[in-house]
Amino acid sequence: MLSRRRFIRIAGATGAAGVLIAGGGYWAATRGGMPDSAVAPWQAPGQDLDDPRLKAAAFAMLAPNPHNIQPWRLKLVGNDAVDLHVDLARLLPETDPPGRQILIGHGTFLELYRMAAAEMGYRADIALLPDGPFEPERLDARRVASVRLVRDTKAPRDPLFAHVGQRRSNKEPYDTSREVPGGAVGRLAEVVGRGFTVTGTADPAARQTFRDLAEAALKLEIETPHTLKESIDLMRIGPSEVAANPDGIDLLGPMIWWGERMGIFSRDDLSRPGTETFEVGLQMARDQAQTAMAFAWLTSPDNSRMSQLQAGMSYLRMNLAAARDGLAMHPMSQLLQEYPEMSDLQDRFLKQDGVRGGGHVQMLVRLGYGEAPGPSPRRRVADIMAA
Ligand SMILES: Cc1cc2nc3c(=O)[nH]c(=O)nc-3n(C[C@H](O)[C@H](O)[C@H](O)COP(=O)(O)O)c2cc1C
Repeated sequence: MLSRRRFIRIAGATGAAGVLIAGGGYWAATRGGMPDSAVAPWQAPGQDLDDPRLKAAAFAMLAPNPHNIQPWRLKLVGNDAVDLHVDLARLLPETDPPGRQILIGHGTFLELYRMAAAEMGYRADIALLPDGPFEPERLDARRVASVRLVRDTKAPRDPLFAHVGQRRSNKEPYDTSREVPGGAVGRLAEVVGRGFTVTGTADPAARQTFRDLAEAALKLEIETPHTLKESIDLMRIGPSEVAANPDGIDLLGPMIWWGERMGIFSRDDLSRPGTETFEVGLQMARDQAQTAMAFAWLTSPDNSRMSQLQAGMSYLRMNLAAARDGLAMHPMSQLLQEYPEMSDLQDRFLKQDGVRGGGHVQMLVRLGYGEAPGPSPRRRVADIMAA
């Protein structure tokens, strides 16, 4: 068995700028070796489709979504509408028991759908939760939204749409010599609307407290077998797995390539505390949290199902604004998650100055500057179409 240091040295010798990064069970690697087919949906989205409803969907599928699980099911209705449902086979029951993050990932989809439709000269009339809200505890087969496209060349085009191709969830370590300037969080706050707020801090003392809390939450998620297993099950290790399933947590790059061949990187090792791979994962979690140069959180007035969807819409806008401003953004959701083991850390987070403002924190992100990774894999529009 190779030592961790040697493992890292070997990876470094291959020119691997990237490293395996564990992020709350979210693992990412610099995307060297990404199969073209997995990122093809980012190239001229919808160009192979005629129906504007499907063209808009091709853009919407580029939305950020939890664990890149892409939990959408789309149904064509008549000749000008679509219904959006949750794909109930794509849930995160361990880390997201109520499906709150899954619904946020529907809000991001819908906001991008609306923007893409406007670019094509359509107004998207979106009715959220037309069959009534889901129960607070679980999602079901009812519609998330019904969307009608209406020809309307005056539908306002959104300047944030220009940044769709550059938007990322940047899970790399950030440059600790570069501060996030005052005003950066305010610029994100300007775009969210809907009575939502974005609050944040780059103050070194407060930031350190948030770094430590975020690291502790990541560590807890990795060290809790049922939540770790959920991530491991969603891992796509190496180009052939990513090509076969362009979703989930893509693990690519020389470190993975070497690790697999040397027998020191496997799903089994990832799940066993004490193995080199497990320890590297913890170290990388530390690197993510401890290089955060600012934190920001998106708060909704309440935690209704409607607010969760609208939080997704607001988050998409925040994430696009970060791309516009050249700011790296990375959701760190662990502290917000609703599984019992997290509740103590969550209480500590919510007690920090400026966090609890009477509303519900829906998204927590770290901010900073760093090299942007390539795009993450996506399935095709055909893959989300319901019969
Ligand atoms: C509701 C929500 C929660 C997320 N939580 C995390 C998280 O805790 N850790 C993380 O690394 N990424 C998180 N992400 C980012 C996703 O992993 C990312 O959007 C997905 O992998 C697709 O990558 P992309 O955003 O770069 O296109 C979250 C995204 C959403 C919408």
